[in-house]
Amino acid sequence: MLNPNLQRLNPYPFEQLASLLEGVRPPAGLTPIPLSIGEPQHNPPSFVLDTLTEHMGLISKYPSTKGSEALRQSIAAWVNKRFSLEHAPISPETQVIPVNGTREAIFASLQAAANATAGALVVMPNPFYQIYEGAALLAGLAPHYLQILPSGQPDYLAVPDSVWKDCQFCFICTPGNPTGTVISEGTLEHLILKANEFDFWLASDECYSEIYRDSPPPGLLEVCAKAGNTDFSKCIVFHSLSKRSNLPGLRSGFVAGDSKFIEPFLKYRTYHGCSMSLAVQKASELAWSDEQHVINNRALYADKFDSAADILGGRMDTRDPGAGFYLWAKTPSACDTFSRELFEATGVTVLPGQYLGRRVDGYNPGAGFVRMALVAEPEMCKEALRRINSFITR
Ligand SMILES: Cc1ncc(COP(=O)(O)O)c(C=O)c1O
Repeated sequence: MLNPNLQRLNPYPFEQLASLLEGVRPPAGLTPIPLSIGEPQHNPPSFVLDTLTEHMGLISKYPSTKGSEALRQSIAAWVNKRFSLEHAPISPETQVIPVNGTREAIFASLQAAANATAGALVVMPNPFYQIYEGAALLAGLAPHYLQILPSGQPDYLAVPDSVWKDCQFCFICTPGNPTGTVISEGTLEHLILKANEFDFWLASDECYSEIYRDSPPPGLLEVCAKAGNTDFSKCIVFHSLSKRSNLPGLRSGFVAGDSKFIEPFLKYRTYHGCSMSLAVQKASELAWSDEQHVINNRALYADKFDSAADILGGRMDTRDPGAGFYLWAKTPSACDTFSRELFEATGVTVLPGQYLGRRVDGYNPGAGFVRMALVAEPEMCKEALRRINSFITR
């Protein structure tokens, strides 16, 4: 006997990609270049790695689920500065919890919050980061997908109250994966009002918030504070060191926001048993308190988006979404065929957009697009873009 909800899980996009490319041989002599997975390839900050090594001895101790005060203070200081919360600062004591990467926290937060009553919904964009759906299904709730528009985000203002009435938890992603587009302050304010009116948790996945070209994307907590919701009622945010600091293997992030969520979530996590290793806590404390490496990292991505426009210019939709590290490009043929033929001809792997979305009302808004993660080192990325260009101009 197994949890029947396990049967409801969809195959993960990378599993589908592996089947799509099975037996396909890229040209011999061309180094394969994966643009399919969003795993940053820039160097992690060396001072973080040094701190990690220096504190390896702490592995002999059990860490607390709540995390050290020093780490929570470092996180709170970063959030307060980045999101201009000086007048309504978050409390490191009651409004922050370190997590082992946002993936597990996104999943766990919904398990902690869910009350699996008939008809209860988890609202999410479509296409989406796959954990939102998996978390909803395993919590016994129904995903409710909001189709993204060509702008790259759903029209949250058009969601009827009949949906909000049944909503228990709403995931938003800003900057978005896969499109990189940012939700405006006005829309965030609207969502905060709906979450409070209809009593659901509004969970903002902001793990790409530090990868932007011109101006920093607004965050949910910032908009709460501006709107006078200074205890962040019904709102939580997820942040990660994976993209900001090129530390995907450190497994370090945090959840912050409404203490009415954070406190029971801490209790949930005590039983779940997902505390952060003390050496990782020390390294994370330092990473959150340094901005220079983040500024340097942003510059590398900006250069790659400029190159994409130069190399592919006009032949594929290379509009810089303004944030994140993905190019979300329309394909001239079906996105899975395009991805397979591209791999066969060039050794470059991209992810068919249809794997990231679901068919709703007769169409899958991810179909006809590919997601290209510009994560490789700049020269490697440019080489991939040149190969894609020669493939599409052939
Ligand atoms: C939208 C989004 N949220 C969350 C995550 C999880 O990141 P991590 O668990 O490394 O913090 C990812 C990873 O790719 C992502 O794309």
